Amino acid sequence: MSVSFTAQTMAFQRALESARSAESRLFDDPLAGAFLGRPFRVLAGLARLPVAGGLVARLYDLVFPGPRPSAVARTRLIDDTVAQLVDDGVRNIVILGAGFDSRAWRLPELRHARVVEVDRAGTQTVKAAAVRAAGASVDHVQFLPVDFETDDLATTLRAAGVEDVRALFVWEGVTNYLTAEAVDRTLADLRGVGGPGSVLVFTYVHAGVIDGTATFPEAERWLRNVARVGEPWTFGLRPDQLGDFLAARGYELLWEQSTATAGNRYFPPRGRTDQASELYRVALARITCPD
Ligand SMILES: C[S@@+](CC[C@H](N)C(=O)[O-])C[C@H]1O[C@@H](n2cnc3c(N)ncnc32)[C@H](O)[C@@H]1O
Repeated sequence: MSVSFTAQTMAFQRALESARSAESRLFDDPLAGAFLGRPFRVLAGLARLPVAGGLVARLYDLVFPGPRPSAVARTRLIDDTVAQLVDDGVRNIVILGAGFDSRAWRLPELRHARVVEVDRAGTQTVKAAAVRAAGASVDHVQFLPVDFETDDLATTLRAAGVEDVRALFVWEGVTNYLTAEAVDRTLADLRGVGGPGSVLVFTYVHAGVIDGTATFPEAERWLRNVARVGEPWTFGLRPDQLGDFLAARGYELLWEQSTATAGNRYFPPRGRTDQASELYRVALARITCPD
């Protein structure tokens, strides 16, 4: 069964974050370890050791400079955005390319929300089994197997009852693995099914790292590593053109920021000097009503 390696990497980075003390971590993801294969699981266990445990994240950053601080900063920023929107009355959460995202279990704000997860079937099957094996229920989550490149997302969401409801679509760590056509189609599908007041929080990478027109010191190794595991980055956007890109597709950009900016907000108050990346970015957009 094919399981996303980058989804596992994300879970590993969240497991490392969760191994930190309550005062210094950005969030606690008790399920993250349940999704890991043996080598990652051993390392995540070592990260829990007092004193020496901190070396695991430091060594990981030396070998893979960039991804971990960006991953945890973006996760915290999206957690806060989800919590705020639920507080504002959104009750339908659709997590696209959910991988091993465990928000449906770890965010208290989602306890009374309806959560739908979309990803390829292989990753979903492994995820559901891991959640059950960890002693948690999957009954409150609807799993919809969809490949953004080949499947009809709108029809699948409608068949699951996601239509004309105020929804929050979460698309974290996914657009960079898709073709431009799949990104366009997905944006059109979400606009087609989302009711008034629906919003999309998503991440993207700076297009300059894909076409070589922008330089980020951490980019080269990062790109090489994702390509090596068979999940190369294929799509990016220019931050200064994001508003126009979204407007042309029926979305209004509400805000966007780099994970570096998010990290600067979250790390220093916890006494941390982690440096997240400028190339990895998060945006919130409102779906404008179809004419
Ligand atoms: C880097 S992981 C991010 C997972 C999760 N959103 C997170 O932040 O932890 C990328 C996810 O996108 C999913 N994905 C990539 N291409 C996809 C496609 N064509 N259709 C459906 N899911 C896809 C992968 O299966 C994987 O779960």
